[in-house]
Amino acid sequence: MNDSISTPFPHHDLLSLASWSGEDILRVFKLASAMKADPAEYKNLLAGKRLALIFEKDSLRTRFTFDLGIQDLGGSAVYLDHRHERLGARESVPDMAKNLERWVDVIVARTYRHRHVSELATHASVPVINGLSDLLHPCQALADLFTLHEKWGPDLPGKKFVYVGDGNNTCHSLLHAAPKLGLNVTVATPQGYEPNFKVMESARAAASEHGVTLEHSSNPQQAVMGAHAVYTDVWASMGQEDETEERAAVFHDFQVNEALMAEAQDDAFFMHCLPAHRGQEVTAAVLDGPNSIVFDIAENRLHAQKAVLALLLSSAIQADAKQQLTTGANA
Ligand code: CP
Ligand code: NVA
Repeated sequence: MNDSISTPFPHHDLLSLASWSGEDILRVFKLASAMKADPAEYKNLLAGKRLALIFEKDSLRTRFTFDLGIQDLGGSAVYLDHRHERLGARESVPDMAKNLERWVDVIVARTYRHRHVSELATHASVPVINGLSDLLHPCQALADLFTLHEKWGPDLPGKKFVYVGDGNNTCHSLLHAAPKLGLNVTVATPQGYEPNFKVMESARAAASEHGVTLEHSSNPQQAVMGAHAVYTDVWASMGQEDETEERAAVFHDFQVNEALMAEAQDDAFFMHCLPAHRGQEVTAAVLDGPNSIVFDIAENRLHAQKAVLALLLSSAIQADAKQQLTTGANA
């Protein structure tokens, strides 16, 4: 059995990367690389395992990559479209958790309230993965940083990573993880749209522990100067549609365009979680330009999440392997 899976993984769920160490994240990357290089080797790893996908919001990437990801590993997925009403409306979230754990081995939930995905994890005995909440998007940050880890290899530590735009869920998960890998992080947001204070505190502690810098600026040109990677996300996240116009005015100077990218290193990568809005947070020239790695990231959602599924289910995989050995010995 692959080393990464035979050693116990120290987390039951993936709600937030705040509690995951740099080593935990690198373990995901190591397994993701192995799975990407030789998918056939892992095709029965999660044979018979079932995944529930419960989504309160739209999704292309997260839904497809988890559904296909568990199928690649021999398992199956069931999707529950919860876009018509909030979790907790028809029955309580704890009751939902206690039903689901009887049928499935792992749950992925995309919720408005972060509290709801946490509550599922508190009440379900099976692992729960945050597929995006209003506060965090940990699966996205893993794929983003896995992509940089692939591109830069051992040169990653010490590079300058700049996030420009709204201090939102994607930004928060990047802040939780990037300093732990040795990236110097700068976040540029308009005043009033800064990242959550607690997330910044946690990122500051990680940055000081890992000997890297963490800066916040309200000047995107200054922030991007010398950057090795520039990241942006939508200005109005799902659930903030009625603020779209107001935000377009506030974020006008935070558009990632060729002039802004000219402040970064010549070969700086452009990154975005997608979906993107050309002409708003990013211009078409940058998004579709030669330094854009947005589709590499989208592909890596699949590989990184397969690794997460395998690591969170590693104790179940070991129990199955033991059972097979016992059955084999008794046959
Ligand atoms: N980046 C991302 O999470 O995409 P979806 O909203 O399509 O899942
Ligand atoms: N911040 C965006 C990310 C979408 C993947 C949102 O929450 O809508």
